Amino acid sequence: MDKDFKRTLVTTALPYANGPVHIGHLAGVYVPADIYVRYLRAKGEDVLFIGGSDEHGVPITIKAKAEGVTPQDIVDRYHNIIKESFAELGISFDIYSRTTSDVHRQTASDFFRKLYDKGEFVEKTSMQLYDEKAGQFLADRYVTGTCPHCGNERAYGDQCEACGTSLNATDLINPKSAITGNAPVLRETKHWYLPLDKWEPRLRQWILEEHKEWKPNVYGQCKSWLDMGLQPRAVSRDLDWGIPVPVEGADGKVLYVWFDAPIGYISNTKELLPDDWEKWWKDPQTRMLHFIGKDNIVFHCIVFPAMLMAEGSYNLPDNVPANEFLNLEDDKISTSRNWAVWLHEYLRELPGKQDVLRYVLTANAPETKDNNFTWKDFQQRNNSELVAILGNFVNRAMVLTHKYFGGMVPVRGELLEEDRQVMEEIHRSVAELSADMDRFHFRDALKSAMNIARIGNKYLADTEPWKLVKTDEARVQTILNVALQICANLAIAFEPFIPFMAADLRGQLRLGELPWSRLGDFDILADGAEIEKPHLLFEKIEDSVVEAQVKKLQDAKKQNELDAWKPAPVAETVDFPTFEKLDIRVGTVLECVKVPKADKLLQFKIDDGMGGRTIVSGIAKYYKPEDLVGKQVCFIANFAPRKLKGVESQGMILSAELPDGSLKVISPSAPCAPGSKVG
Ligand code: MF3
Ligand code: ZN
Repeated sequence: MDKDFKRTLVTTALPYANGPVHIGHLAGVYVPADIYVRYLRAKGEDVLFIGGSDEHGVPITIKAKAEGVTPQDIVDRYHNIIKESFAELGISFDIYSRTTSDVHRQTASDFFRKLYDKGEFVEKTSMQLYDEKAGQFLADRYVTGTCPHCGNERAYGDQCEACGTSLNATDLINPKSAITGNAPVLRETKHWYLPLDKWEPRLRQWILEEHKEWKPNVYGQCKSWLDMGLQPRAVSRDLDWGIPVPVEGADGKVLYVWFDAPIGYISNTKELLPDDWEKWWKDPQTRMLHFIGKDNIVFHCIVFPAMLMAEGSYNLPDNVPANEFLNLEDDKISTSRNWAVWLHEYLRELPGKQDVLRYVLTANAPETKDNNFTWKDFQQRNNSELVAILGNFVNRAMVLTHKYFGGMVPVRGELLEEDRQVMEEIHRSVAELSADMDRFHFRDALKSAMNIARIGNKYLADTEPWKLVKTDEARVQTILNVALQICANLAIAFEPFIPFMAADLRGQLRLGELPWSRLGDFDILADGAEIEKPHLLFEKIEDSVVEAQVKKLQDAKKQNELDAWKPAPVAETVDFPTFEKLDIRVGTVLECVKVPKADKLLQFKIDDGMGGRTIVSGIAKYYKPEDLVGKQVCFIANFAPRKLKGVESQGMILSAELPDGSLKVISPSAPCAPGSKVG
């Protein structure tokens, strides 16, 4: 860290309170931010960690409308779920507040007013879609219609989900209001715009010249935005949910959610430190970091800084370590398709496994490119890394100490070459660990931490104290002393990543909080100090646990397919004589068996009232043959005979195809004489 800074303000993107948070949010934003903050705290630095919920915006109003409740009900529900689940995962915010708080309303309103009074906005009128029946302007999401690119009839005013094109609501063919179903009309409306073009030269200088050290993905996105040229951006909306525009004659207008939300970082600092917040935002010796996902880059690197420049008295962020996206089981995480692992559900279904999730999400963090979470990998990393390397090493060192020395830290005697080597290797890992932390390379940092445990394991395997104990007790004392000091080092090194384990381990070693500066120290545990009887730090995760999670995802996928199902379009019109050409009859199943070597086919003997016939039908996957015997079915009696797997089929049994693709045979609603005609 640059020596000129006295303190660090860390913010995390405020999640929308229109749903719970999932592992994608965690891996991209909250876990890395928490790791970094815990690291700074362990180094004794002055740090403030700000979080909160983003409670305005159109999606919240749409959800409220769909459920017949108020937007406030929606945000109350999700704010609480999100806040509690973050706390349970150990995300150590100094404050987690919300953008519907009074402090925020006032702060955002004042901020807008200051820019307004300074003449920093341009006012513009434009034509927007208006629903006359509802008496309101329609946000893009509130308009549906036909996509001008692909003809999809259910495109939204901001995007067509069929072809992926982003749209303007006024581009839609046959636009309809999602509120009333009416065709909207165009009406003039006035809004306030922040002239980003005015700030473009300063933004170019600040980012492209002065912050070449930003992550390549962040720098690259900024550069391409700047190279395209910046346009004025509307910072108000016609909506009844949000912070009112504090200007005379702005009835029915609120601040655009992306204007008020980042100000939430300021409001939440103020709420926490009413008398002392300003130094965190205005003292040039404070450095500010925004942890965000890649979809938020433009707002945090261009729009919000332009707002801060326009205001004039605030610091700009020092770095914006944005991450890429996390996929789930090789598929894009999607809230609407319920393709996600939701944090609050994880905590309920895998209780006490916060560290495992934190560990796996860090090991797979989408730092430089999109990454993938799978339950198989989750299980494997737990079983073969946390259990087999870290847990195993600590347990062995402690068990041996109890076995040979009654649970007291043995005195370290003369060091041999092999001891010195191990200490040196650990010093190297520690140096890498710290360097990677400083660069926000948490995946690599985690590897270095795990490397310390690997070194410890190898040390015990190489020195074999259990073999020496009969012949050279003094040597065993030295080895176990070194091993226990390594355990103490692990408690420091892993604290930012898996704090629950670290606290447990400190407890077992009877150590208090340990500063980062003690990392690499081999005199943490005093000679003769007592340690607790060890218990395992991690437990194996069984196949059944991850299989249940995979099944849950598969069920979600099936449910989605069902939800998206629509009956096939009706076929070409036929007249009665054409219909009559088909001779459909009722028959009774006399026999039913599987056709050998054909997994789809069942062979039926049908009583057709005319001496009986054989029919082969492709429904073996959906019925047990014996369950069909005695049932009545409908079949086409004049279907041309054909051979299926060597069996001649004399007709076709009628069945319906369900949304999941399964087939169900059609039966009469009351017993019928075999051979009865259907028509
Ligand atoms: N709610 C936004 C999202 O989830 C993030 C807002 S970040 C803030 O994408 F800076 F505006 F607060
Ligand atoms: Zn389209």
